[in-house]
Amino acid sequence: MSTVAVIGAGYVGLTTAACLAHIGHNVTCADIDETKIAQLNNGKIPIHEARLLELVQEGTAKQLLKFVVGAQQAVTESDFVFLCLPTPQRGDGRADIGAVLEVVEEISPIIPPRAIIINKSTVPIGTNASIHATIERSDIAVVSNPEFLREGVAVTDFLQPDRIVIGAMDEETGERVAALYAEINAPIVQVDLASAETIKYATNSFLATKVSFVNGLAAVCEAVGADIELVTRGLGSDQRIGSRFLQPGPGWGGSCFPKDMQALVRIATDAGYEFDLLKAVIEANEQQFDRIVAKAEALLDQDLSEKNLALLGLTFKAHTDDLRNSPAIEVAQRLAAKGAILTAYDPMVTSESGIPQEIRLAASMEQALTDSDLALVLTEWPEFTRANWARFISLMEGPRVVDARNVLDRKEMVELGYLYDDLGRT
Ligand code: UGA
Repeated sequence: MSTVAVIGAGYVGLTTAACLAHIGHNVTCADIDETKIAQLNNGKIPIHEARLLELVQEGTAKQLLKFVVGAQQAVTESDFVFLCLPTPQRGDGRADIGAVLEVVEEISPIIPPRAIIINKSTVPIGTNASIHATIERSDIAVVSNPEFLREGVAVTDFLQPDRIVIGAMDEETGERVAALYAEINAPIVQVDLASAETIKYATNSFLATKVSFVNGLAAVCEAVGADIELVTRGLGSDQRIGSRFLQPGPGWGGSCFPKDMQALVRIATDAGYEFDLLKAVIEANEQQFDRIVAKAEALLDQDLSEKNLALLGLTFKAHTDDLRNSPAIEVAQRLAAKGAILTAYDPMVTSESGIPQEIRLAASMEQALTDSDLALVLTEWPEFTRANWARFISLMEGPRVVDARNVLDRKEMVELGYLYDDLGRT
């Protein structure tokens, strides 16, 4: 058992803290948000994340997990200090590492001798080495241990990862960090600091590229009469490519892909390489939002003005309540700019979620669809697939559906009498 501090109780920090307690460590998780800490101390979690509440309650009950306000309280007896802090995108595309630097400055004079600072935040390549250079403590090591946690399945991703990447300045430090994960059955990729930082950006930008590739391929399928589901089945069976992350959609979004793509482009430019491939992928993703709008227009005689549109789904993907950089919101704003009247239903979104004012929120799918001229499925919530579309047809003013997630049964929708469009299916 090690004594561990986790600074930051966002979805990465909270998942890290709860999972480290679950595998037997003694964890103190700190955040500057007093309300959040009070909520956690009352056995509640501020985000929607499968299994997380259960693990937080388990850790608290076993007295292996506690929550405190402010980093200082958490670190004084910790041999390992995880940094799980936000690194938002700045106006120039670079990542803002202010929060990380501030915490390092605050904790470095007071952490125990030979403690290790383990950074999980996504930071520009070289940041962890420069943090180490600025700390006036020669006994303290800095390690990069990027997270690969998907929202919605973060706990599973932590406990059953494909790999654990540990970037350290020397082998012994890397091994001390690897030992923290001894209970987890996964290959450890032990590398240097800069390589670990690069692996994180490489992973997210490769995945975003994969999604944009498949979205482009779906457009080709539409043009040539091929079926994207059959094409991705064949494509993904090539083990060099793999079958995951080949689902077409309204574009990639969320709190990570867009900012990490921009950041890597920026990092490359700053280092003297123009990463034109990634720039094109970012551009293709914008085009994808426009393609979904064009599909709605095509079903409504190219005129969205005053049309009632039902938006099904607003979160950036299913099984999360996160609206940050959501493709659904991107599409909605483009539809609103063309004069459409928008009513949305999302099982995880409430009036407190902070949606743009152009979107009126409905309490159910039925309510959103009633009197609508067209519905767009923008998030792949299972309840949209399971819904009784035979009954909905009479609720709608016009039975038109753009299925931007390919989650409805095309044949059945057409047989029911819907004017139906999706991405690259025949
Ligand atoms: C992503 C990465 O998957 C995690 O490994 C990483 O740790 C995390 O970012 C991060 O950097 O913190 P997440 O933002 O939860 O996780 O989202 P993903 O599940 O990767 O999905 C990203 C976007 O791609 C979503 O908008 C999703 O709808 C879209 N997507 C994904 C598709 O359109 N098709 C697919 O086949 C897969």
